[in-house]
Formats: sequence, structure tokens, C-alpha cells
Amino acid sequence: MLNVNSFKKMKKANEKIVMITAYDYPSGKLVEMGKADMILVGDSLGMVVLGYENTLEVTIDDIIHHSKATRRGAKDTFIIGDMPFMSYHLSIEETKRNASRLIIEGKANAVKIEGGSDSRIAAIKAIVDCEIPVIAHLGLTPQSVNRFGGFKVQGKTQQRHQEILAEAMRVEAAGAFMLVLEGVPEGLAKEITESVKIPTIGIGAGRYTDGQVLVYHDLLGHSAYVARFVKTYADLDNTISHALAKFGEEVKTGEFPQPEHIYFPLEEKQNKG
Ligand code: KIV
Repeated sequence: MLNVNSFKKMKKANEKIVMITAYDYPSGKLVEMGKADMILVGDSLGMVVLGYENTLEVTIDDIIHHSKATRRGAKDTFIIGDMPFMSYHLSIEETKRNASRLIIEGKANAVKIEGGSDSRIAAIKAIVDCEIPVIAHLGLTPQSVNRFGGFKVQGKTQQRHQEILAEAMRVEAAGAFMLVLEGVPEGLAKEITESVKIPTIGIGAGRYTDGQVLVYHDLLGHSAYVARFVKTYADLDNTISHALAKFGEEVKTGEFPQPEHIYFPLEEKQNKG
């Protein structure tokens, strides 16, 4: 399995890092078979799996449950457990407890937290101090949806550009081993990638980050809303809905089941040759 040092080396060697989200046994298994370098059990699970409008209702128990299932499918892949809204905001003690639960119960290898404010920096330091690797997440941080007034691209103004650049330096100094950059102009992501030693992973951040991440359901054409930055590599919604409708039709018409789907007593089977 790759580890934190492997990702550092990949940045140095200019080898792009592939991160894909997964949420359960089958998606974990398929993402591992697809040879992703790392899996994120993201709080995007709230939207793509649980049907919430945003990520805010996802709990630490949700992420643990889904991370455990993902690990059963992806035994040999580095897994990151996403720390959900309010799981690292209230106290350092609770932050450490929640991060450690993702590692011990959720079987993750690292955790991810959003933001670069003073309290986030303290959270990163506290988690790293527990020997747990941390990924920072800056830019369009979905847990800030209410403060941002929607899922809005960040860093378009000079002021926000400078703020996010400064946050990137701070999370690196605090001990984060990787940085997810979401929903920022390509130039800002490039500047950050060239300014920090830790690998950057982009989502809606252009071409120049050290790696890319997409949400499993988005890249497979299996989610209700697809943002501009997503490329879909399959059309699962159509494939699945056609298959389900076809099954229904065949049950109604009696076309299913056929003899090959039916169990017969031994003598009857022998007579059939
Ligand atoms: O929850 C998630 O899937 C994420 C990625 C979009 C980076 O945080």
C-alpha cells in the first residue's frame, strides 16, 4: 500500500496522484481495481449516497460506517476519512477523539479537514500530534456553504487569492501532508502547488495540481447534479435505469425467469439431458 512518503515522492517525480471517492464495499473494490492511488471517504456521501442537499448533516458515525465498508472492499489502498461538519470545531479533545475513531474504527489511514483559520491550524497540529496524517482542504470548502452563500468558486478576487495562498502555507507549516484545492482558479492552484512542498490534489482547480480527485458517482454519470469541472467517464444512471426497467418488463410478460434460472429436481434435470 502507498503511504505518506509515496505521495511526497510522486510530487518530486512529477507523477500525478489519482484520488477517487468511495463510500462502501463495492465502490471501494472497484476504485481499488481501477488502481487509484488513494481513496477518499468524503462527506460528499451526504449528497451522492444519502440524498441530502449538502454535506452538513453527515456525522462522524456515518463516515466511520462507510469507511469501514470501503476498507472491506479496498484492503490495499490508502484511505482518507473525511472529518464532517462540527467534528473538529468544538474542542481539541473532541477533534482528537473523532480523528482517532476514523483511524481505529473506520480503518482509515489519514483524515481530512476543511479550512485554514487559526482554529483549523490548531486542529491540524493536534491531530498530527496524535500521529495521524492530515490532509487540508482549501478554496471552495463545502462545509462553508452557508458562509459563502452557496457553492461558489473561491479566490477570484486578489484579496481571496492572497488569503487562500497564505492558508496553504499555514496548513503546510502546521503539518498537513497533502492539500486538496477545490473550486479555485487554475492560476491560484498552480501558484500554491509551486509554493508548497506537500502534494496538492485539485477538484475544479485546473491542470497544474499534483493530482486530481473526483467524486465516484459524478465521474460515473451516477449523480443528480454534475458541476462544470467534472468529466463523466460512464453513463451509469442510464445503464442502471434501463436494466431495472427491463427486469420489470420481463417479470410482467413472463419472459423472466427462463429454464437456466430455475432449479429442478435431479431426475427432471437428467431427463432434460
Ligand atoms: O467530500 C468529498 O468528496 C470531498 C472531495 C470533493 C474533495 O471533499
